[in-house]
Amino acid sequence: MDAFRKITGFNDIYGEKIKIYTEMETIAREIFARYVYREIRTPIVEFTGLFQRSIGDSTDVVQKEMYTFKDKSEHFITLRPEATAGIMRAVIENGWDKSGQIEKLFTIGPMFRYERPQKGRLRQFHQINCECVGSSSPLIDGEIICMLLSFLNELKIGELKLKINSLGCKQCRPLYMNNLKSFFEKIDQDEICEDCKKRIEINPLRVLDCKQDKCRKIFSEVPEFKESLCVECNNHFNEVLEILEKQHIQYEIDSHLVRGLDYYMRTTFEVVSENIGSQTAVAGGGRYDGLVSTLGGRDIPGIGFACGMERLCLLMGIPDKKRPDFYLLCPDEKYMIEAFSFLETLRKHNLTGEMNYRSGSFKSLMRQASKSEARFCLILGENEINEESISIKNMETSTQENLKRKNLEEIISKVKNWE
Ligand code: HAM
Repeated sequence: MDAFRKITGFNDIYGEKIKIYTEMETIAREIFARYVYREIRTPIVEFTGLFQRSIGDSTDVVQKEMYTFKDKSEHFITLRPEATAGIMRAVIENGWDKSGQIEKLFTIGPMFRYERPQKGRLRQFHQINCECVGSSSPLIDGEIICMLLSFLNELKIGELKLKINSLGCKQCRPLYMNNLKSFFEKIDQDEICEDCKKRIEINPLRVLDCKQDKCRKIFSEVPEFKESLCVECNNHFNEVLEILEKQHIQYEIDSHLVRGLDYYMRTTFEVVSENIGSQTAVAGGGRYDGLVSTLGGRDIPGIGFACGMERLCLLMGIPDKKRPDFYLLCPDEKYMIEAFSFLETLRKHNLTGEMNYRSGSFKSLMRQASKSEARFCLILGENEINEESISIKNMETSTQENLKRKNLEEIISKVKNWE
């Protein structure tokens, strides 16, 4: 009978990668706590309408990439393709949009997009995601970018570039859209892909997401946002840039950075690396000032970002493998429960290790002890049982000592400090 295989684009995470993921999460939690972000965990499925309304019907994510199903009550539900929409739903449902406070939230977990898998692009991937609602101050834009870069610097993943742009607001965006339409009227429609022809009709901004070379070449000439920004948006953008400069953060203004989701307003940004192949963005985010009210909440501003953990993982070195402190070797079946009690005592004193859970010859068990890569082998044989002692073998130097088991402190200190 054929064995089951995993689904394309869905990966098992184990071994060294688990260590990298855990380390990333620990660093994220430490850094985000400095900025007083609180953790939230939202469901991985939401009603489909939430994503349609927030991410936008004309985006690639909603058009092509969502895992959408009808449940047994005939409701359309979707595996979350990103975290912002679900978090905003939770903000509204819990009344945090009415608190008058700034709410800072982060979440870590899996997202799902039906994309063509390749290096750094999966169908189930993991994001570290932060959202801040309740303030439109450029200081908040500056703060969230500083926090993102502190986190990424801590991971020591080599050179990164911050790209930034402003997409304007409800007032000035229509002016930009008019400029864009005039540009499209002048280009030869036969030169662009079928998707882009539709995009021009439905949501012209989305042509800037097109990945086809021929379209990208033509659209590299589209008008720049900064030419149409209103005074408020221009000031906001300049203040954000000033805050970054004061923090000695280098950036590149990318006037075509529109990001692939419809909810963005004003500041948008991405952090890219040249060292992970064609999927260069390790993090992306921006302001979404109209989103909470679009979803039925108060009209409060918001900004956030998400990092792709798989892409960060490609850039992170393998952390030092932590070896277990000991392997408890007990050849004789009849002393195993006594050995197990001693094993538990050592664990309660913060030592890491395991034992042979089945009896065997001394030679084969010693082989298992070396395989476990433990620093010490603790031997509990017939002699040790009779003498109420334990033998401690240093696996690196092969030197051995025998200590009374009642001298627990001495045993622990030996295992912790013996060079
Ligand atoms: P996004 O740019 O779609 O933004 O995704 C953020 C990051 O998730 C990307 O920069 C990338 O590192 C990673 N990522 C996206 N798709 C995949 C994939 N198929 N495989 C592996 N990694 C991937 C958002 O998701 C927004 N919700 C970010 C945000 C939060 N904006 C405001 N708040």
